[in-house]
Amino acid sequence: MADTQAAWDALAGHGRTPIARLIDSEGPARLEALVHSQSGIRFDWTKTHLDTETLARFAALADAAGLDGARRALFAGERVNVTEGRAAEHPAERGEGHPESVEEARMFHARMRALIDAIDADAFGPVAHILHIGIGGSALGPDLLVDALGRDAGRFDVAIVSNVDGAALAEAVRGFDPHATLVAIASKTFTTTETLMNAESALGWLADHGVEDPIGRCIALTAAPEKAVEWGIDETRILPFRESVGGRYSLWSSIGFPAALALGWEAFEQMLEGAAEMDRHFRLSPWATNIPVLAAFADQLYAQEHGCETRAVFAYDERLRLLPSYLQQLEMESNGKRVRADGTPIGRHSAPITWGGVGTDAQHAVFQLLHQGTRLVPVEFVAVREPGHHFDMAHHAALLGNCIAQGAALMAGRANAADPARDYPGDRPSVTLLLDRLDPRTLGALIAFYEHRTFANAVLLGINPFDQFGVELGKAMAKALEDEGADNFDPATRALFAAAFDADDESA
Ligand code: F6P
Repeated sequence: MADTQAAWDALAGHGRTPIARLIDSEGPARLEALVHSQSGIRFDWTKTHLDTETLARFAALADAAGLDGARRALFAGERVNVTEGRAAEHPAERGEGHPESVEEARMFHARMRALIDAIDADAFGPVAHILHIGIGGSALGPDLLVDALGRDAGRFDVAIVSNVDGAALAEAVRGFDPHATLVAIASKTFTTTETLMNAESALGWLADHGVEDPIGRCIALTAAPEKAVEWGIDETRILPFRESVGGRYSLWSSIGFPAALALGWEAFEQMLEGAAEMDRHFRLSPWATNIPVLAAFADQLYAQEHGCETRAVFAYDERLRLLPSYLQQLEMESNGKRVRADGTPIGRHSAPITWGGVGTDAQHAVFQLLHQGTRLVPVEFVAVREPGHHFDMAHHAALLGNCIAQGAALMAGRANAADPARDYPGDRPSVTLLLDRLDPRTLGALIAFYEHRTFANAVLLGINPFDQFGVELGKAMAKALEDEGADNFDPATRALFAAAFDADDESA
């Protein structure tokens, strides 16, 4: 494990100069150092406490942490996921990685495309609806893509269902014609309880509505094709992907099938190309202009030096309303760890809590705390220059204007010594990501940016971002409760279980 202590010590206390003063003192040089454009996205850190000195110290930390070697290992397909002994090859899905992995990914994409062509050629009869069943990384990515890009372009109605609550499935199929529905069962492992239960119920729904061959309407998206075959899906309707693609990094693989189907193959390829462009930028750029790395520097500045426990992402575009929940899994499942890759304690805070919402709605709900609360929350605004609708441009002008004004207000504040309730302290940081337009290429680049930023944060902290053992204990206990009841649990859990399930429980 790289010894980063001296580099962290050198950072302590840096970057605390009030933001307004920084802007005054650095002027155009600050804009040059902290505004970068890449792949149709303008990234702006001018309203943060990053300054030249802090950036230099973070660059030293990146070197001490071995970030250069780590990114080379990632793209070379080395076993960067050390606790599970495998590579993390999502970039290979975009054509950036070990040549053999890139080739294999191409082959799987070709298979995916062939199935889409077959659906278009009516091999499944008329298809109007796609019911995509998956959870976590097998749902959040496709959901984001379809919701962001499929509003006008969507060729099919896509419903994505994840929760084991039957109400979610009921809602998903409402209005669907079972005879014109295809079911995509997305699970990397093909063992996930929620997904398999929803899939069983979807088969039942098809059968109950007189669909002759329900299983023949199911397509599996998985890295465990043998399990899908065991479950009953014919090999010809299985779209595999590689084991080395992590669940929360899998939207580029066959897990993205509903998006590729709904948006068309060309759009899916453009998304891969946009991501590949960001891959090359991350792989080749020096720290001072490397966008995912600069973002990680700002993340660490606020998490470690300013003690921020959360970071908030606000999409100032309705089409990106699912971005915060997508990022929650990406960032918190990847870096919400307490030990480093070598098992030693991290010794500082790891991932902050990612949360957020949609502007302008959030302004009327949670922004009070951002402006005047006692906690410092670094904010990320994500906006798009071109509107996603045909109503009066006044809507979009108001939307962007609000976004820009919020960043300015957080930074500048407004002193009111006479009336503390109306005093705005200001000096509150924000980053703005401004997309030229929301198209598949730009969205691909944006998501790849977030992936690499998460990776860069992990390397600075010494974390393996590609495992998620934290979720296993709860799964095991849920299974034990389901199989054996609560007898072997603690008294509080036994009482709660009885209250939930025993008809004659007196406390219920
Ligand atoms: O429980 C966590 C998790 O393993 C995620 O990492 C993953 O995205 C999700 O469950 C779904 O897993 P699968 O794709 O194997 O069904």
